[in-house]
Amino acid sequence: MEIPQHVAIIMDGNGRWAKDKGLPRIKGHKAGVARVEEIVEVAANSGVKHLSLYAFSTENWRRPESEVSVIMCLLRLYLRLYTNSLHRKGIRFHFLGDIEGMPEGIRADALALEIATAGENGMVFHLAVNYGSRMELVNAIKKCISDGLEVADINETTVEERLLTKGVPPVDLLIRTSGEQRISNFLLWQCAYAEFYFADCHWPDFNKAEFQKAMESFASRERRFGGI
Ligand code: FPP
Repeated sequence: MEIPQHVAIIMDGNGRWAKDKGLPRIKGHKAGVARVEEIVEVAANSGVKHLSLYAFSTENWRRPESEVSVIMCLLRLYLRLYTNSLHRKGIRFHFLGDIEGMPEGIRADALALEIATAGENGMVFHLAVNYGSRMELVNAIKKCISDGLEVADINETTVEERLLTKGVPPVDLLIRTSGEQRISNFLLWQCAYAEFYFADCHWPDFNKAEFQKAMESFASRERRFGGI
């Protein structure tokens, strides 16, 4: 079976999952974090080389402060508690997003986890936090200018080298849970030729079997990259 090198997931539906069960939204986010751990392991065992999970966008700061602070607490716990588990699985951690805009504690924990797992050579787990694709592209173009590039030097390679995903292969498979069919400012450049897969279940129910269904769907696609 053809395995995608890079899988990206928009983890949607934590709130609706909780609502369906008559629980507060934060319970949905908690269940969502548990699913992160499981899917990271399943993806690594399936032979995926890069897994990018969209945890928090640059637009998510607009949510009520109480919800943002719970998500930040969960993130901090994750960054602190999963170092050993990532080590055991040989997984390298990468914070994908505007780290400068994060609270100091999270910044330090994220960098510590990147450093602690830097020597691992299994799958790379990119956790997208405070990430927005338009912001990433604007920053890459600004960097081309501040690096002194001439108009003639600006091409796909020079832009790509200035993205947060520098050196990471393009997304092969983009999954979104919860029935919505939008890209929501996630990896716009990197998804140029990605195959899309929409799962009906909410993120806290996206288990190993659901992941495998997405992988099977990917393997059945015929990819032409603009050719015939
Ligand atoms: C989507 O559900 C979830 C989010 C926007 C953020 C929460 C992300 C997680 C809990 C995973 C975080 C991972 C770590 C490691 C901290 P939603 O709230 O948009 O659901 P809804 O569309 O049903 O309201």
